[in-house]
Amino acid sequence: MQYLRLDSEGSMVLFSCEIGTPPSLLYWGPARGEAVSGDEIERLSSRQGMHGVADVALPVSLAMEAGLGHPMVQGLAAHRDGKDWGSLFRVAKVEVLPQGATIICRDEQTRLGLEYYIDFDPETGVLRIASTLTNYGSTTLDLNEMVTACFELPQNMKDIVGFTGRWTQEFGRERIARTSGSYLRENRSGRTSHFSYPALLLATADTNESAGEVYGLHLAWSGNHRLRVDTLTDGRVLASLGALLFPGEVRLAPGESYASPEIVGAYSAQGFSALSRKFHAHVRAKLLRAEMRAKPRPVHYNTWEAVYFDHDSDRLKELATRAAALGVERFVLDDGWFGARRNDLAGLGDWVVSGDVYPEGLGPLVDHVTGLGMEMGIWFEPEMVNPDSDLFRTHPDWVLGAEGVDQVPFRTQYVLDISRPEVADYLFERIGAVLRDHDIRYIKWDMNRDLSHPGGVDGAVRAVAQVRALYALLDRVRAAHPHVEIESCSSGGARADMGVLAHSDRVWTSDSNDALDRQSIQRGASFFLPPEILGCHVGPAHCHVTGRRISMAMRSATALMGHMGLELNLLTEREADLVQLKSAIALHKQHRNLLHDGEIYRLDTASYHLASGVVARDKSEALFSFSYMTGDQHVLPGRLQFAGLDPARNYHLTLIWPEGWQAVKAPSLIEKLDLAGAGAVFSGAALMYAGMQLPHAKPETCLLFHLKAV
Ligand code: DGJ
Repeated sequence: MQYLRLDSEGSMVLFSCEIGTPPSLLYWGPARGEAVSGDEIERLSSRQGMHGVADVALPVSLAMEAGLGHPMVQGLAAHRDGKDWGSLFRVAKVEVLPQGATIICRDEQTRLGLEYYIDFDPETGVLRIASTLTNYGSTTLDLNEMVTACFELPQNMKDIVGFTGRWTQEFGRERIARTSGSYLRENRSGRTSHFSYPALLLATADTNESAGEVYGLHLAWSGNHRLRVDTLTDGRVLASLGALLFPGEVRLAPGESYASPEIVGAYSAQGFSALSRKFHAHVRAKLLRAEMRAKPRPVHYNTWEAVYFDHDSDRLKELATRAAALGVERFVLDDGWFGARRNDLAGLGDWVVSGDVYPEGLGPLVDHVTGLGMEMGIWFEPEMVNPDSDLFRTHPDWVLGAEGVDQVPFRTQYVLDISRPEVADYLFERIGAVLRDHDIRYIKWDMNRDLSHPGGVDGAVRAVAQVRALYALLDRVRAAHPHVEIESCSSGGARADMGVLAHSDRVWTSDSNDALDRQSIQRGASFFLPPEILGCHVGPAHCHVTGRRISMAMRSATALMGHMGLELNLLTEREADLVQLKSAIALHKQHRNLLHDGEIYRLDTASYHLASGVVARDKSEALFSFSYMTGDQHVLPGRLQFAGLDPARNYHLTLIWPEGWQAVKAPSLIEKLDLAGAGAVFSGAALMYAGMQLPHAKPETCLLFHLKAV
C-alpha cells in the first residue's frame, strides 16, 4: 500500500506509507472527493533541491528521526552507548483497521521498530495517533526524545494559538504570527501544568470563531510535554507533540517498548468553534463513561471557600441543609477531614477520618447529607504527603526526589512515587476503606505541586511512570467503585487534559471563582472540553482570590453555563442573593440537558464583551450568554448575531436571566419586544444574519437568551 486514505464527514487525511520509505502525513484538510488520489497529491507536492541546501528535497516523516539528516528538526533521538543514533524508519507493513491503520516501521540498522496507531473517526473527523518504539537489539537503548508524531501542515497556517496561564488564570489564549524557526513550549512540571496546556492551534491569519481554516492538536497526557511548530527554511511547516523525557528516563532493554501518549487532532474549515465541536464530540463519545453521560450532572456544593480547614460537623450540616434548600444535589467535603490536616502543613497521606474534628466519624455528616437527598463527595490528594504525617514518618523513602539535592519547597508537601506497587496499594486500600465505610459517590482528586525532582528510590527518573501509575490507580479505583465519579483537580485546572479524562469524569477548571476571570477561563477551556465536565462554581460576593465584589446575577450566570456548583459560605451571604441563587440553580437544571449535550458556538465580539451559546444538536433550542465585561466603547453595543440556528425555522426568543432585568435606559429592545416577558418570534435567518441590537448594560452584566423553535 502506498497511501492510507481516511475519510470523514467533510475532511480527509492521507498518509504516505509506501513499503521501504519513511511514513508521513501527506494531506489533511477538506475532503477532495474520490477523484483525487494520493498519487496526484504526492506528484503535485514534488519539490526540488536547491543551492546551499541538500541536492535533494529532504523528506519529512512522522518521526523526524535523526537518520533523515534534517538540519533543523529532530523528533526522535536515541542511542546505544553513543552508537546506533542515526535510525531511519521505513514502512514494513500496513495493517488496515475499520477506521484507521497500524503503520509498522523498522530500522534494520539500529534494530528498532516503530509503530503508528492511527484512528480517524468518520463522524467527528477527529484524528488520533499514538506510536510505540521497540528495541529489537541485544543491548539497551537510551531514548532521549520521541515525538508522538510530526505533521506537515499547510503553509498558509500563519498563526499559532497557544494556551497558557497560571494558578487562577488557566486556559489563556496567546495568538501569535508564526515566524521562521521554532515555536516551542516545554513543560517539566510533571503534571499537565497551568502554564503550558498541551495543545495548540494552527490557523490562517483571518480565522475566527465562525470562519476560516484551523488545525487543533492536543496531547492527551498529564505529564511533561514538548509542543513545537517549526517553520523550515524551505517554508514547510511542521507541528509535533510528544512527552518530554528526562535524561535516562526511558531506557529500553532488549525486547522492551516505549508507548507515546496520543495526539488528538481535528481540522475545521469553519473556524474555531467548529473545531471545538469536534473535540467535544470526541470527549463525549470516546472519553466519558456512557453511564455518567446518561445521568444529569448534579449541582455541587463544595466546602472549600466556605470553611477551608476549619471543619466543624454542626456547621457543615447547617451548610448542607442550606445547600439542599437551594436545590443543590451533591455535597463535596473538601480538604481538611483527615489525619492532622488542620492546615496545609500536616496530615497529607494519612487518609483516616480525623477523630479530633469528627469524634463520631464522618458517618453522621454523610447520613445528614444523604438524608437531605444529596450525594456525598469527598476530597483526596493521593499522590502527596506532608513531611509532618504518619505516612512520611513511616515511609520516608516513598517520596520522589534527587539524590544530594534538597526538595523544592512547594505547599509543604512531597510527591509519593506511586509507580511503586506498595505505594499504589496503600493508596488504593485507604481510598477504598473510606468509600466502603460511607455512602460516597464522588471523589475530588487533587494534586497540588510540581514533580520538581522526579527521581525514584533507585535514582532513576520516574516522571512518565508516575503519570502511567496515576492512570492505573484511577482505573483501579473506578473498577472497584464504578458508581463513584472522579474529578481531576490540580491547584485548579493544572490537570485538565484528555489523557486524564480517559480515567476521570470532570475537571476542576480553576481556583478563581471570580466570575469575570471565569468568563475567560471557561471560554479558553471550551476550546477542547465540553461544558458539562467543567466545574463552574458560584463563589462568594467578595471573591477570595481577586478581592473583587461581583453581583450574584453575574456570578450565577457564569457558573450556570457549565457544570454548576456553589463554593461560598451560605451562612454569611446576603439573603437576597441566596434567593437569586436558588432561581439560577433551578434555571440551570431546566436547561442542563441542552447545556450538557448541545453544541458550542463561541461568538466574536469586541474585547470588552464575551459571548457564546449552546445549540441543541437538532437545532430545536439554544441558550446564549452575552457578557458585558467592562464599559462599552460606544453609546450602544453592537448586534448579537446568534449562530448555529436553523435559518429556515422560527424561534421564540426570551431573556431568561437576570430575572426582571431592565435596561439602563428603558425602553431598550428588551422592553420593546417584551423579551423578559412573553418574548417574541423571529426566523433563525434574521437572528443569525441581521442579529439583534443589544441593550446598553452596566459592566459585569451577563444576559442569557433562550431560543426555542416554534
Ligand atoms: C486546590 C484545589 O484547587 C482547591 O479547590 C482545594 O481543593 C484545595 N486544593 C484544597 O487544598
